[in-house]
Amino acid sequence: AWSNVPQGPPDAILGITEAFKADSFKEKINLGVGAYRDDKGKPYVLPSVREAEDKVVASRFDKEYAGITGVPSFTKAAAELAYGKDSSALTEDRLVITQTISGTGALRIGGAFLQRFYPHAKKIYLPNPSWANHNAVFKDSGLEVEKYRYYNKDTIGLDFDGMIADIKAAPNNSIVLLHACAHNPTGVDPTQEQWRQISDVVKEKGHFAFFDMAYQGFASGNADQDAFAPRHFVKEGHNIALCQSFAKNMGLYGERVGAFSLVCENTEEKKRVESQIKILIRPFYSNPPIHGARVASAIMNDPKLNEQWLGEVKGMADRIIEMRSLLRKHLEELGSKHDWSHITSQIGMFAYTGLKPEQMDVLAKEVSYRSRATKKHVDPFYHALQAFAFSQLTPSALQHSVYATKDGRISVAGITTGNVKRLAESIFKVTG
Ligand code: LMR
Repeated sequence: AWSNVPQGPPDAILGITEAFKADSFKEKINLGVGAYRDDKGKPYVLPSVREAEDKVVASRFDKEYAGITGVPSFTKAAAELAYGKDSSALTEDRLVITQTISGTGALRIGGAFLQRFYPHAKKIYLPNPSWANHNAVFKDSGLEVEKYRYYNKDTIGLDFDGMIADIKAAPNNSIVLLHACAHNPTGVDPTQEQWRQISDVVKEKGHFAFFDMAYQGFASGNADQDAFAPRHFVKEGHNIALCQSFAKNMGLYGERVGAFSLVCENTEEKKRVESQIKILIRPFYSNPPIHGARVASAIMNDPKLNEQWLGEVKGMADRIIEMRSLLRKHLEELGSKHDWSHITSQIGMFAYTGLKPEQMDVLAKEVSYRSRATKKHVDPFYHALQAFAFSQLTPSALQHSVYATKDGRISVAGITTGNVKRLAESIFKVTG
């Protein structure tokens, strides 16, 4: 029945993990997916999460379905974390919030809701570049995806003028996606002053601001500071949409804990919107899983655990900052002529190195060779040339085994004191 189904490419980010796993080299380094590792390179379960989980298990809760919008104690706390307890959206009872299958699920619910109900436009403007999955999520939601300028590769910083110009040039009432903090993949964020200007322009144009906040706490180490942009927009009267993920800041990756919220005009509007959010979610997955949300709720609703957790988030953010410095230091000590200052000036989980796709291929070595060689229609001449080129390399030159996405993004969370020197040597060899 499926002879018409074409072979698809591996996922731009999750496919890297597959390639990494297939590599037998002992010292291989995975800087692909944005998942935090401790300094031994091991996945890290936050002590606050362990404690909360023990509490949840000890409570011997039943396994009944949550409501369609999830575990209420979780969504209430998630809203307070994002908007701040005294946000008018909460005090005036005009926030709709639903638990979601982490950040991706939040985006998908948001995309579907806008597609169905946003009266003005079916186009969403994403920063260029943006998280690789945004495009697919919004396309699958039935929206048209456009881009606005964001990253300036010459300054390796924000193209603020380009961003403002493009947001101004978009038709009135467009949907604009904004990364609340720790922009993925570039690690380049607007300053607070720039956010104020962005808010003004979005208001002037009547655009709808759709925030993706997957890294609250990871940018500055402070959850309130990282929520500056959405909170400022709400203060300025924007009725925003907001996606939250607890994958990174609580390390709850596979538990899939997230939230989607919409700020409404008043309680009456909130009730109508909430009813439609439920109608939309029910045929998707009925209701969300309960365990991870209970764990997150146990943390956020216990002042002591909450404080401990915020300290642990800061600890993760600080280790990443330290690895940025070490990587830059090693590259400079090796005598690299390139300017690596962006590695330490960018924030969040990723560094956008500026390495080209071909250089990323060499860093990962075998991957590029094998994937090309296994393509269905290999150009025999090209293949022979590749094989020859590889045969000329010394074995050590073939042994980078450093895996990251083709766009030159590296997950700094995968760097450790144990691998940073070898990583710097590999990047140095590849970039000259
Ligand atoms: C990433 O960008 O690596 C993370 O957001 C994980 C993912 O699902 O892509």
